[in-house]
Amino acid sequence: MNRHGQTASSYPKSRLAFDDAKNNIAAGVNSPVRSFAAVEGTPLFIRSGRGAHVLDEDGNTYLDYVGSYGALVLGHAHPAIVACASEAVKQGLSFGAPTTAETKLAQQIRRALPSVERLRFVSSGTEACMSALRLARGFTGKSKIIKFSGCYHGHADMLLAKAGSGAATQGIASSSGVPAALVQDTLTLPYNSISALRQVFATEEIAAVIVEPIIGNCSLILPLPDYLLELRKLCTEHQAVLIFDEVMTGFLGGGGVFVLVFWALFSGWLGRCSDLY
Ligand SMILES: Cc1ncc(COP(=O)(O)O)c(C=O)c1O
Repeated sequence: MNRHGQTASSYPKSRLAFDDAKNNIAAGVNSPVRSFAAVEGTPLFIRSGRGAHVLDEDGNTYLDYVGSYGALVLGHAHPAIVACASEAVKQGLSFGAPTTAETKLAQQIRRALPSVERLRFVSSGTEACMSALRLARGFTGKSKIIKFSGCYHGHADMLLAKAGSGAATQGIASSSGVPAALVQDTLTLPYNSISALRQVFATEEIAAVIVEPIIGNCSLILPLPDYLLELRKLCTEHQAVLIFDEVMTGFLGGGGVFVLVFWALFSGWLGRCSDLY
């Protein structure tokens, strides 16, 4: 029995499905967070979802607090989404060429988030963060980036640096396969500490700061009052690009647009204070 009281017989069909998956898929999952490796237990294999509920392979129903990590703003299998997606499938799904549908979607996003001036669609959060950081480095001509312990920005090599005990931890790879050279310009700071930020900005040339404005990747941590405004001020003073990673939070505040991941060029202040997000 594990610490959650699960035994081998708790979710027999999920367990069998996991064993089967492990014979075919590395670690049995296609994202490390789904493996339950750090928390023990068997990942639930989900058969279907409708509205706010999901059904697992053993026939148990759950209220879904995951919501595909923020992407499912309309819940599972919303009839309007199902109708649109079915219609799109009939037209052909991918052409390796531009389509007017992309521009229409971009316009809808800009209407929902007026500070977005231009945007680009990408396939994953990893790609969005990696591209935003490259853009920031190219724009500023500087190399060093700041991230915060507890924030996750995908699995690009330069972001797999871990935090240590000092105020600023010089990049030390936290994953095998990441050469030291690729994380040496990644500085990891404690979240919500303006003094740690000031200390680093005083001594280092910083290209960009990347942050989850509300951390969702180690429990839920809200910014202290004024923290993000101070961050904005420091970045402006030191000509560093401020990047809000809103993979999880992007559409929680409204908009209602069915979109997963995007980033925008040089957005203004209207309710958002980042340069890129
Ligand atoms: C805040 C944040 N940024 C980036 C990512 C990486 O996204 P993806 O798994 O699509 O590469 C995640 C994934 O959980 C995330 O939560």
